[in-house]
Amino acid sequence: MSQYLHDKPLAVVTGANRGIGFETCRQLAKFGIQTILTSRDESKGRKATETLSREGIELTYHQLDVADLGSISILKSYVMDRYQRCDILVNNAGVFLDRGMSILEVPLDTLKKTIETNFLGALNMCRAFIPIMRDQNYGRIVNVSSAMGSITRMGGYSSAYKLSKLLMNGMTRISADELRGTNIKINTMAPGWVRSDMGGPSAPRSLSQGADTIIWLATLPDDGPTGGFFENRNPTAW
Ligand SMILES: NC(=O)c1ccc[n+]([C@@H]2O[C@H](COP(=O)([O-])OP(=O)(O)OC[C@H]3O[C@@H](n4cnc5c(N)ncnc54)[C@H](OP(=O)(O)O)[C@@H]3O)[C@@H](O)[C@H]2O)c1
Repeated sequence: MSQYLHDKPLAVVTGANRGIGFETCRQLAKFGIQTILTSRDESKGRKATETLSREGIELTYHQLDVADLGSISILKSYVMDRYQRCDILVNNAGVFLDRGMSILEVPLDTLKKTIETNFLGALNMCRAFIPIMRDQNYGRIVNVSSAMGSITRMGGYSSAYKLSKLLMNGMTRISADELRGTNIKINTMAPGWVRSDMGGPSAPRSLSQGADTIIWLATLPDDGPTGGFFENRNPTAW
């Protein structure tokens, strides 16, 4: 059993009890990757894990609130004790709390909560898991951003969400540069407008289409890109 745990790549996906994160877990596990489905609400996450199990997809569940440093630290200890490795990190957890609100009116608490979850959550996950990746000189990090985080396309409204994704994109560039010379690749991506609780029922893209570029970046070969912003597997404007 322990040999088995060591041999297969290990992936951690945040915010995976539903939506794009859930679909990402399904596809990674189908690839034969040991996948840890995490969620801030344990009962929702266990339910999601059971749903996949009924499809014949086996993965592991662990609680994780990305806005809670203690929760990140507990997950890291669990991963180190049980697997002694982390090959893939998908920073997918996100909130969109200020849809359509003016930057002049969005409550500061909403701005803080959004940045704490969407940006600091992803940054703190990187700070916890990159040292493991450095030790093994292998890692693939996918930051699930948004076209709304593109500065060249940025219009008014929904500023908390847009700025949180802009920060995530900036963090990707900075980390990629600091990781030059290692086999750790960190990229950011936009899934498009996807039918999930966040995207709503009118969105044109399926969960599977939304997860496609995530899976591609999570399984990049050693000569694949790093420090990029991608949409539909192609570079997109920052
Ligand atoms: N759907 C789109 O059209 C679209 C477009 C561009 C980018 N994105 C990005 O894609 C990612 C996934 O979105 P989605 O469409 O799948 O949205 P979703 O259905 O609303 O799912 C978001 C997930 O994030 C989790 N989450 C929120 N705060 C968390 C925290 N503090 N710790 C851990 N998990 C947390 C949620 O958990 P709970 O169930 O506990 O709330 C949920 O599982 C997000 O980063 C989003 O910004 C989505």
